[in-house]
Amino acid sequence: MIEFTNKTVVVTGGGSGIGFACARAFASAGATVVLAGRRAEVLENAATTLNDELGRECAIAIPADVTDESAVANLFVTAVERTGRVDVLINSHGTGGSGNFLVDMDAATFRATLDTNLTGVFLAMRGALNQMREQSAGVIVNIASMAGRRISNSGMGDYVASKHGVVGLTMQAAAEAAQWNTRVVAICPGTVLTEMIQIARGQNAGEKLAKEIPLGEVALPEDVANLALFLASDLAGKITGTAIDIDGGQWLPVHTDYAKWVRRRNLMNQM
Ligand SMILES: NC(=O)c1ccc[n+]([C@@H]2O[C@H](COP(=O)([O-])OP(=O)(O)OC[C@H]3O[C@@H](n4cnc5c(N)ncnc54)[C@H](O)[C@@H]3O)[C@@H](O)[C@H]2O)c1
Repeated sequence: MIEFTNKTVVVTGGGSGIGFACARAFASAGATVVLAGRRAEVLENAATTLNDELGRECAIAIPADVTDESAVANLFVTAVERTGRVDVLINSHGTGGSGNFLVDMDAATFRATLDTNLTGVFLAMRGALNQMREQSAGVIVNIASMAGRRISNSGMGDYVASKHGVVGLTMQAAAEAAQWNTRVVAICPGTVLTEMIQIARGQNAGEKLAKEIPLGEVALPEDVANLALFLASDLAGKITGTAIDIDGGQWLPVHTDYAKWVRRRNLMNQM
C-alpha cells in the first residue's frame, strides 16, 4: 500500500488527462494535491470533483501558466503557504507538436512548443527544488514521452525536441538534487487514451490504437498515474535520473513502411 498522507503533491496540467489521473491517484493515497495549470475554471472543477469524491478538502487549484516565470514562482510560494511543504512535483503540463514538417515550421512555433514543454518544466522544477533543498527531501516526476526517446509521428519535430530536452533535464536535475535527498525521474508514455486522443482518433479510438500495441491495450491515464505513484514512493527510493517507458510495447516494432509513416501526417490532418 503506497501512502502519501500529510504530503503535498503539486501537479502541473493537473486539471485534465494524465495530470488529473495523477492528482486523483495521489489524493486517493492520502496526499493534498495542488492542481496547477492555465485554465482556472477547469482546475476549480477538477479540485471540486476530487474533494467530493474523497470526502475531504484534498485538492487546491492554483492557476499558473508554466511559461510565466513569476506565476510559477508564485505557485510554489502559495503551495507552501497553504500546505507547508512540497513533497512531490508532477510535471504533466504540455502542448502537442505543430504538425508541420521541420522544413515548413516557423521559428516562433518551434519556440512556443519548447517554451511550454521544456522551459515550463525547468521553471516548475526550479520552484520545487528550491523547497525540496530546504526540506532535504522530495521527488520530481516529469511526464516526457516516447517522443523523448526516439521520434514521433511525422510533423512533430518541435514536440520531439522538447521531450528529448525533458529527458536530458531530468538526468541533470537528478545529479544536482541527489545531495538534497531529492530524486528526479521521467516517464515516457506511448499513446495514452486521454480525451484529446479520443477526439483526435474518433470513434473506437481505443480499439484502433490497440492494434498498434503489442500488449493489445492502449494505456489509460490511470496506468501512467500508477507508475508516477510508484516512482514517487519509497518503493522507488533508489531510482533517480532515469526515464521509464510505458507504452505496451508500442515502440518496439521497427517502422518498415517509411512511405506510410510520411503519409500518416496527411491522414492525421484530415481527421
Ligand atoms: N496523451 C498522450 O498520448 C501522451 C503521450 C505521451 C506524453 N504525453 C504527455 O503527457 C502530458 C499530459 O498530457 P495529456 O495527454 O494528459 O493532455 P492534456 O491536454 O489533458 O494535459 C495537458 C495539460 O497541460 C496544460 N497546459 C498546457 N499548456 C500549459 C501552460 N502553458 N501552463 C500550464 N498548463 C498548461 C493544459 O491546460 C492541460 O491541462 C503532456 O506533457 C504530454 O506531452 C501525453
